[in-house]
Amino acid sequence: MGAVIRFLLDGEVQEVRGANPTTTLLEHLRGPLGRTGSKEGCAEGDCGSCTVLVGEAGGEGVTWRAVNSCIQFLPMLHGKALMTVESLAQDKTPHPVQQAMIDKHGSQCGFCTPGIVMSLYGRAVGAKGADAPVAEVLAGNLCRCTGYGPIIEVAQGVQAEAPPKVDLAAVSDDMPLSISFEDEIHGVTQTWLTPRTTDELAQALLAQPDSTIVAGATDVGLWVTKQRRAMPALISISEIAELKTLEETSAGLRVGAGVRYVDAIGAVGKLYPDLAVMMRRLGSTQVRNSGTIGGNIANGSPIGDMPPALIAAGATLILRRGDERRELALEDFFLAYGQQDRRPGEFVEAVFAPRLEAGRLFKVFKLSKRFDQDISAVCGAFSLAVDGGVVTDARIAFGGMAGTPKRAKACEAALIGRPWTEATIEAAMTALDTDYAPMSDMRASAAYRALAARNMLRKVFLETQGVEARVTPESAHG
Ligand SMILES: Cc1cc2nc3c(=O)[nH]c(=O)nc-3n(C[C@H](O)[C@H](O)[C@H](O)COP(=O)(O)OP(=O)(O)OC[C@H]3O[C@@H](n4cnc5c(N)ncnc54)[C@H](O)[C@@H]3O)c2cc1C
Ligand code: FES
Ligand code: FES
Repeated sequence: MGAVIRFLLDGEVQEVRGANPTTTLLEHLRGPLGRTGSKEGCAEGDCGSCTVLVGEAGGEGVTWRAVNSCIQFLPMLHGKALMTVESLAQDKTPHPVQQAMIDKHGSQCGFCTPGIVMSLYGRAVGAKGADAPVAEVLAGNLCRCTGYGPIIEVAQGVQAEAPPKVDLAAVSDDMPLSISFEDEIHGVTQTWLTPRTTDELAQALLAQPDSTIVAGATDVGLWVTKQRRAMPALISISEIAELKTLEETSAGLRVGAGVRYVDAIGAVGKLYPDLAVMMRRLGSTQVRNSGTIGGNIANGSPIGDMPPALIAAGATLILRRGDERRELALEDFFLAYGQQDRRPGEFVEAVFAPRLEAGRLFKVFKLSKRFDQDISAVCGAFSLAVDGGVVTDARIAFGGMAGTPKRAKACEAALIGRPWTEATIEAAMTALDTDYAPMSDMRASAAYRALAARNMLRKVFLETQGVEARVTPESAHG
């Protein structure tokens, strides 16, 4: 096992020994590496001022993706390549993206500018290239002073270009990375393990069942930067190729627990187009470049966006402990707020979403205060079969309406066997009050949530009648 973190920075091998494994990449950049171009705006993945590009083996060579360095742990960079805003200017000549930001007045205080430059450079060299929609590329970069007009103008002019060639062979490693660190602040020995196979992962979790699993760290990263939580044992699953597989069969789609959103959206969209549309609003480009569907499920948040849709789809979870596997209906995984049916030493191996039957209606609506990069107040998912004008089956689930993502069984019962009419919908909307007693918080009041959920069902109905109804705060009152 190796204990040295190795990565390429502008093509040069970097070796880090003895670091606390929960050091963030941003801390390492701004501290030991003196690369202070990347800024810390929020330390929680929201503002994008810390955006860097990480290159890893993929496609025909190295694939570069924008990530938030403030919530990536340093060991996650092992075997990869890195570019920061300092990588761009050559011989003190600004890169064309930087020059355009100057020419078009895209910067005032400049705090957000390095991150914006890196997101736009990521657009130029990234897998989607300059075809990626501007709004999608910039959704994870906040600017408080310039106003987005000039920045969008710069973005529209970004040309695709070949990224610098790097050879990952100098840093690649087949051995698990294993770090042990004496954390004097918390008074614990902190360990980090990056296993390479699911067997190694299973063994490591049996040996230390209370380990924290790290996938993309878009949730776990914040436990360190915001909560300063002590996590004595961390196990990263990001280098386990078996967990990164997507398998589409005639039965459905199996998504490995380590598959990131960016790699899943295409395949999900083939089976569930509406879900893929919603996924483009989940977090930002940077968040989707790191975060996984497995992490979203395992985290168990009542406002996670994937569980309602997957529950409505009838998805199952494949869990593994040692050599034993069990399959569980996804809806049964969520026991109570903060409590999931995951046994000590067990991990999520994959989620399986069955193919929709022909003619079945599948809709997902996400309601949040901001269109992008915002957690849902309410997320509703509807899978309905209507035959000869009568509802023959219904699976409906909501997030943000209870302590867990939860099915709307009373609402479903009010629909099944009834004609697909306004009167049925009205009755089913009322039944939602039996299913849920939502709470009030900073995202929405209980009354607003209840009304929004009811109106989402109405929207499904109206859309089948050819009426377009937007899910907006106004329509929820309308
Ligand atoms: C700026 C920002 C915006 C966000 N926006 C959204 C949003 O719009 N909608 C939304 O739903 N979420 C959002 N999130 C939350 C987060 O991105 C998602 O929950 C994401 O899917 C988590 O995946 P991850 O791979 O990063 O998980 P991690 O952070 O690595 O892990 C999350 C949890 O899952 C556990 N875990 C991970 N993998 C496994 C496994 N295989 N087996 C068992 N346990 C496992 C971890 O131990 C941890 O408890 C946002 C986060 C940020 C920072
Ligand atoms: S500092 Fe705000 S996203 Fe990283
Ligand atoms: S220029 Fe000041 S935050 Fe964007």
